[in-house]
Amino acid sequence: MRKLAAGNWKMNGTSATLAELEALSRAHPDPGVDVLVCLPATLIHPARTLLDNAPVALGGQDCHAAASGAHTGDIAAAQLADAGASAVILGHSERREDHGETSDRVRQKAIAAHQAGLIAVICLGETLAQREAGETLAIIGAQLSASLPDTCTAANTVVAYEPVWAIGTGKIPTKAQIADVHSFVREGLIAELGAQEAAGLRLLYGGSVKPANAAEIFGIENVDGALVGGASLTAAEFSPIIRALEASVHPA
Ligand code: 13P
Repeated sequence: MRKLAAGNWKMNGTSATLAELEALSRAHPDPGVDVLVCLPATLIHPARTLLDNAPVALGGQDCHAAASGAHTGDIAAAQLADAGASAVILGHSERREDHGETSDRVRQKAIAAHQAGLIAVICLGETLAQREAGETLAIIGAQLSASLPDTCTAANTVVAYEPVWAIGTGKIPTKAQIADVHSFVREGLIAELGAQEAAGLRLLYGGSVKPANAAEIFGIENVDGALVGGASLTAAEFSPIIRALEASVHPA
């Protein structure tokens, strides 16, 4: 499996910020891992034009479950694909919280993403209260089984474990905590998809990934890459994270 360094720009960036993507693509003309940056929808098409055929894939951050129709302000998976996206983040905790998205809704969106030929990057994660109550694996298991549709394969789906309390806080779970959740998710995927598909499906860790902690995180079993928020906004910070992931594949 090819590892994946994914960025999530969230609601950040305007056309001026695309210079960061250009710098990133210049720094990684032939990356040893997959590189994906999930942009605000307005930037996908200009970014694709700017990057031309450079090996930086682009994604959206949400899509509607319907293929088209009367849904003011929403965006369809096919529209993201048309703009130049090859992936879309679904079920991020900020969407689950800000927009009341349920796992059932996330599953419907993932089906729409797959129908449009997009990779669905499906996010799971517990809150601090849930972790402190000892509910982490129960929450992750419930989100996993309800959010992933039957259309999932190793090629069209990525699962990102993002503990809500680690997002944007500088707090990181211990290596053992990440390893526990990731092996639990892998087991769950084996049960849902079978051993072969489950083995090839990328599991990302997300939440306060920075250049300084990336190598340690990428050394954890069943961590196949990262979903990076704040540190993906500049080439200066995202590039060393990509290099750390490359180094984890081919240790020097
Ligand atoms: P930070 O890397 O800023 O903590 O954000 C993580 C995240 O939510 C990525 O989707």
